Amino acid sequence: MITKILDVSEEPINIDYIKEASEILKKGGLVAFPTETVYGLGGDATDKEASRKIYAAKGRPSDNPLIVHISKFEQLQQISKDLPDTAKLLADAFWPGPLTMVVNKNKFIPYETTGGLDTVAVRMPNNPVALALINESGCMIAAPSANTSGRPSPTKASHVYEDLSGKIDAILDGGSVDIGLESTIVDLTEDVVTILRPGYINMDMLRQVVGEVRMDPGISCGDKDISVGAKPKAPGMRYKHYAPKGDLTIVSGQEDKVVSAINQLTSQAIAKGLSVGIIATSASADRYTSGKVLVIGDREDEASIAHNLYDILRQFDEEDVDVIFSESFATPQMGQAIMNRLLKAAGQQTIEV
Ligand code: TXA
Ligand code: MG
Repeated sequence: MITKILDVSEEPINIDYIKEASEILKKGGLVAFPTETVYGLGGDATDKEASRKIYAAKGRPSDNPLIVHISKFEQLQQISKDLPDTAKLLADAFWPGPLTMVVNKNKFIPYETTGGLDTVAVRMPNNPVALALINESGCMIAAPSANTSGRPSPTKASHVYEDLSGKIDAILDGGSVDIGLESTIVDLTEDVVTILRPGYINMDMLRQVVGEVRMDPGISCGDKDISVGAKPKAPGMRYKHYAPKGDLTIVSGQEDKVVSAINQLTSQAIAKGLSVGIIATSASADRYTSGKVLVIGDREDEASIAHNLYDILRQFDEEDVDVIFSESFATPQMGQAIMNRLLKAAGQQTIEV
């Protein structure tokens, strides 16, 4: 199969390309498309075969459910049952936007899409290409992140192409995404709203809308000890994800100490004949004396850190570095989300200095 690239990065969006992509979806094919978080790999959420194709293209275990992307609140009502009032409150506050809600499903969405679960994850993306595709196709679109299972999520069309070229029908290239980390997932099926995956919409923002909110005890975000034995509720959070090829260690603590610790670790690794990558900020980059240093962003601009994280991990994969040392980024708003992804990429390997 040849994967077509449809360039929709310029305004106004090329509607012919949206129509072409919509026809592919309606015929049961797969189209990758941009959202405000990361690129998604889309298929018709009501079509079992399309969902099977998504799992096959990604090499994803079929018990890891997909997120259904919609463009109208009524579509959530159409595919759910026992929808709690909090769903409307959260949708009014955050949709379209980077929030996914897990609710009880009805028969409309097949088990192939939900990995066999009786619940379904739903979100309304805040991206004009994604919304146009949902509207034009008339499909609710099942879409996991458009990467090969186990690789960092794609934040550019070229990342999707690297992983899925030849395996999917088309990629809508909408340029670089906005946020760069996957959506916050909340579970609305229990008494208390529970965060299953941290993202741009954080605990405080959710509490302002629905009151009590808790974090799934199986999730680590760097601000507390990892709950030993607790199993994350979102199946995808149980897999070792986002794993770079190089062995990644996070070094945290006061900046001067972190820089000297990383310099020392880097020299030791180089002496052993290993190649080293370092994830630094614009302020610290010059202070590293050896290794391949990449700047993730500016500590005062946490959006830049979230935006560049996956691209940097992919760059180190391309360079085939043996070990990677990263500074720690417990920033105010997205710190939990950033550290959650970084800790997973590091297989929880951290050094406190
Ligand atoms: O920002 C995003 O959410 C992106 C864009 C494309 O929308 N999508 C994304 O999808 O990150 P994916 O498949 O890479 O991650 C979906 C996560 C997985 O961890 C999965 O286990 C969880 O959502 N999930 C999906 N349905 C669920 C359900 N019914 N109950 C619990 N977790 C669910
Ligand atoms: Mg994913």
